[in-house]
Amino acid sequence: MKVSGRSCDALTGPVLVWLLCALLPRCVCYNTSAQIDPLVYEEQLLWVSGGQGHVSTYRIPVLTFTPKGSLLAFAEGRKSSSSDIGAKFLAMRRSTDKGNTWSPTVFIVDDVEHPDGLNLGSVVVDEEVGSVFLIYSLCFHLYRCSPSSTMMVESRDDGLSWSVPRNLSIELGVRAFAPGPGFGIQKRHSPAKGRLVVCGHGTIEGDGVFCILSDDHGKGWRNGAALKSIPYNQKKSAQDFNPDECQPVEMPDGSILINVRNQNNYHCRCRVMARSLDGGESLPVEELYFDSELVDPVVAAGALQKNGVLYFTNPSNDRNRVNLTLRWSLTDGLSWEKKAVQIWAGPSGYSCMSSLDTGSVEDQKFVFVLYEKGHKDYFETISFVKVHLYGGR
Ligand SMILES: *[C@@H]1O[C@H](CO)[C@@H](O)[C@H](O)[C@H]1NC(C)=O
Ligand SMILES: *[C@@H]1O[C@H](CO)[C@@H](O)[C@H](O)[C@H]1NC(C)=O
Ligand SMILES: *[C@@H]1O[C@H](CO)[C@@H](O)[C@H](O)[C@H]1NC(C)=O
Repeated sequence: MKVSGRSCDALTGPVLVWLLCALLPRCVCYNTSAQIDPLVYEEQLLWVSGGQGHVSTYRIPVLTFTPKGSLLAFAEGRKSSSSDIGAKFLAMRRSTDKGNTWSPTVFIVDDVEHPDGLNLGSVVVDEEVGSVFLIYSLCFHLYRCSPSSTMMVESRDDGLSWSVPRNLSIELGVRAFAPGPGFGIQKRHSPAKGRLVVCGHGTIEGDGVFCILSDDHGKGWRNGAALKSIPYNQKKSAQDFNPDECQPVEMPDGSILINVRNQNNYHCRCRVMARSLDGGESLPVEELYFDSELVDPVVAAGALQKNGVLYFTNPSNDRNRVNLTLRWSLTDGLSWEKKAVQIWAGPSGYSCMSSLDTGSVEDQKFVFVLYEKGHKDYFETISFVKVHLYGGR
């Protein structure tokens, strides 16, 4: 039920929630933090690797909501092998019924025969103008090509059609930058409300975590925060500080918490956490910490902040990409609830989370996970999971 365009449980203040719920009998109310009890509610495979449709391997799941309440799932369709380099399609499927059914796969970008083709990528939604942007790299590994480019396509019609690729390297420079993989954010709170923030990592030349920013709804982009590796711009050894693929989320206080892959296992076999207090302009070293509870096999992981609860998905194992697990924190990541939910015990790799917030109570009950899942290898399929946050009730 909607209350002035918003669901009753989205309103802040326990007294107000209680009053509204008392007045509106059909209104289902949740004490969001106290009752979280995630349940894997539905699961379906969106992509299966193995040679159909000129694709050898689907990898790199990216998932987003749209301003109209649809879900868009993206993946790399690697044409001839499972390798990160090589030619690819950028594949998409779209759901207009909250993930129950999905459109057939469409290829929204084709790099044809590129020796070091496109790599996903971050999707970012501008809710103020209704655009969805997808930012990806070309020639990221500098394999038989040069330079690396950061590219962007845009949809203004809920993912139905996409613009021709635009070359953001003209503004940002040609350093190798691999956004995400995952989603970028639009700041909902100050500082820099309305800003688009997309974070990713660089490689050998200028490696570390970097964010790019747009203050005019995706028209212009500039370089923002940098968290540089040590030794910077030099070949790394085991246990060097080498922050890599990352997922930013905006916290209720307006800070941006970035959950980062710890490429060389610096300090621990766990996640690096970086925080920006100025809307993605900087990532001060004082805010950096290592989350020893988030054990990790060196992988791209999923993170999401919804209604004051922070969620995290990864293959929860310090050596191998197995055991895809959902964890949640009621303390903005300071601690994690003891009860974790295993989504898949077997091989599992990259994951990305999203949720809807169209104003319906139903939307408050679910988060969605798109992840790499297999029986022998984690890149056999890409699977979509609907998680009921309140045990199916
Ligand atoms: C929600 O649950 C928490 C923890 O049990 C409690 O501290 C808080 O007061 C509850 N809030 C409401 C609105 O009931
Ligand atoms: C993108 O722009 C840069 C800088 O002008 C250029 O060097 C690069 O070749 C362009 N990339 C593509 C794919 O057009
Ligand atoms: C799976 O993850 C859970 C939660 O982190 C952990 O307790 C368990 O030991 C993990 N199992 C394996 C086989 O990695």
